[in-house]
Amino acid sequence: MTLSGKRILLIISGGIAAYKSLDLIRRLRERGAIVRPVMTSGAQQFVTPLAVGALSASHVYLDLFSREDEQDVGHIRLARECDLIVVAPATADLMAKMANGHADDLASTILLATDRPVLVAPAMNPRMWAHPATRRNRATLGADGIRFIGPEAGEMAESGEAGEGRMSEPLAIVAAVESLFAGGPRPLAGRKAIVTSGPTHEPIDPVRYIANRSSGKQGHAIAAALARLGADVTLVSGPVTIPDPAGVKVIRVERAEEMRDAVLSALPADVAVMVAAVADWRVASAAGYKIKKKPGEAPPPLQLAENPDILKTVGHHADRPTLVVGFAAETENVADNGRSKLERKGADYILANDVSPATGIMGGDRNRVKLISAAGNDDWPDMDKDAVAEKLAALIAAELERKERG
Ligand SMILES: Cc1cc2nc3c(=O)[nH]c(=O)nc-3n(C[C@H](O)[C@H](O)[C@H](O)COP(=O)(O)O)c2cc1C
Repeated sequence: MTLSGKRILLIISGGIAAYKSLDLIRRLRERGAIVRPVMTSGAQQFVTPLAVGALSASHVYLDLFSREDEQDVGHIRLARECDLIVVAPATADLMAKMANGHADDLASTILLATDRPVLVAPAMNPRMWAHPATRRNRATLGADGIRFIGPEAGEMAESGEAGEGRMSEPLAIVAAVESLFAGGPRPLAGRKAIVTSGPTHEPIDPVRYIANRSSGKQGHAIAAALARLGADVTLVSGPVTIPDPAGVKVIRVERAEEMRDAVLSALPADVAVMVAAVADWRVASAAGYKIKKKPGEAPPPLQLAENPDILKTVGHHADRPTLVVGFAAETENVADNGRSKLERKGADYILANDVSPATGIMGGDRNRVKLISAAGNDDWPDMDKDAVAEKLAALIAAELERKERG
């Protein structure tokens, strides 16, 4: 049983997805976890303490000012006598309280008083999730070291609306919990990694932009694999529709210049893996208004300017990480272009892949890469992107250790 004896404090807040928490309790217990539930008063509008208590086989903690509960374990012990706190679902309201250090009910007080790792599974209407206030709170919590799983894109239970905001499925949350407890080797513990992922969007005007087909799947998988090996990972992500990987800090950006700034401010690091498909060019002067089509007028010319070369900047930086890894998405002369990129950019490794449409690599789940380094070229077989990530993370761990030993 993967979670045998693990003590999980499960905080359920007041969203419609609270019904999924009942299944989450079952799944955690099936794997041997001991689940102690806390419910906000909002949560009790959606599921009953009776159901939560029956499924968890535990007392359910509801009230900060309960004399019996306070004499029994007390809120400070609840906050500390566990191996992990899981907040599922996490409402916009509870995230706002957490980000601002509020402690006006049992759940928020525990979250402020704890010194345990916290995994948050947000669930809310897509507009609430997209609201700048929630984005700010999400970023603050990420910077505070709070781990996130989801939310996912899809149909909303209550409103018939679709978008990003659905709570991750209980089994996905269980997988994130398991990976936090994974007892495997952690050769990257104490190492810092920066990973970039996804495309960049370069605005033409406030409504139009230049983009590319990168999905972020490979970069996100690498961030997750490095985190599983114990690294402290900062993932700088362009606009993607896939969920954040568990256990990494995510900084969201849109343009190449923002990505460069976020990467540089995350230095120093032991390793940088630059996977993002950064646009080579941006529009020289993006219009501040929507460019209008006028009858009889020729289309407006698009004047492009060169974007910063993030890989090259990091590869030649005074704070250059011990290992710098880049990706080369090519449609022809993959090996030659990859090798010249290795030299120009000051990288230790280039993972070159053929992204011609027929390969299905861009946006797909599989990848076939050629590892280019000073030692030569190594053709990796066709693998799924998670397997490429695992292999690269193991290689990075081995190489950092080799360099340290001199
Ligand atoms: C039918 C219904 C569904 C709701 N679903 C959500 C939700 O999914 N996510 C969310 O953040 N808030 C949702 N809310 C609003 C929260 O219940 C409300 O913000 C509440 O104050 C949250 O309290 P809590 O965070 O202490 O549990 C919903 C409200 C109603 C009436």
